[in-house]
Amino acid sequence: MSVSTGKPVIELKDVKVHHPARTGGLFRPNIVKAVNGVDFSISRGETVGIVGESGCGKSTLASVLVGLQAPTSGQVLFHGKPAIKRSARMRKEFGRAVSVVFQDPATALNPRMTIQDILTDPLQVHGIGNAASRSDKVKELLALVGLPQSAAEVTPSQVSGGQRQRVAIARALALDPDIIVADEPTSALDVSVRAQVLNLLSDLKTQLNLGMVFISHDIQTVRYVSDRICVMYFGQIVEEGPAAQVFDNPSNDYTKKLLGAAPSLLHT
Ligand SMILES: Nc1ncnc2c1ncn2[C@@H]1O[C@H](COP(=O)(O)OP(=O)(O)OP(=O)(O)O)[C@@H](O)[C@H]1O
Ligand SMILES: [Mg+2]
Repeated sequence: MSVSTGKPVIELKDVKVHHPARTGGLFRPNIVKAVNGVDFSISRGETVGIVGESGCGKSTLASVLVGLQAPTSGQVLFHGKPAIKRSARMRKEFGRAVSVVFQDPATALNPRMTIQDILTDPLQVHGIGNAASRSDKVKELLALVGLPQSAAEVTPSQVSGGQRQRVAIARALALDPDIIVADEPTSALDVSVRAQVLNLLSDLKTQLNLGMVFISHDIQTVRYVSDRICVMYFGQIVEEGPAAQVFDNPSNDYTKKLLGAAPSLLHT
């Protein structure tokens, strides 16, 4: 597997995201430390897996990475430049360069739009091309994710769950991103199609030299696709290293527990 190439597209430095908890009082709020001092980087050409149990802060970290949420403190760098308060121009470039695939394609895709319109939308928003070139791009995207061209004419509810996630992946690729953040991209899918979607993501990463952040609570899934693995526990990265090292030689007790406790989704 390839190792990190080139400079990081996104870097997080000592990022914290804290929320007031419902259990606290008005004057002495308890704080939920969803992300609590994380350093992280992602470059093109590498897949970084983030694994950890429910509630450890994976999705919060993802939302900071893709710019949906500003951290309480710490730095976010985009190509080495501070990116928390972005200029309009940087926001647009960030939006092009970093895209996201969510867990459930049924809610991530507008049910009233045809797949053609879903895939054209990001191009229109970013003012890319004309009607003819956009329609060519939609054809190219459908082919890239292994969907038939006829899928363009239907709505998301008219295709299967696995195919819907392929549509979401195609949409994430529409603007030729540098980085894709995939938050539990196979968890909502039928077991029988999970491996196919994982294979697709891993093929696309190689073919397009993408940087991929792959988030899952299932360590076996993460191992299957990742070059590098970060293990999260209570808002912190407690172990980080090449996938083989984390698996064969885990140094952290929590990682060992996770490895011992995890049945593989690919074998269930
Ligand atoms: N807006 C919010 N206000 C208060 N607490 C929040 C908020 N968002 C997240 N949290 C808390 O932060 C913690 C981390 O949540 P997060 O969704 O990032 O976890 P996760 O690792 O993605 O979990 P899962 O595997 O279940 O998706 C949780 O305890 C959650 O309840
Ligand atoms: Mg989550």
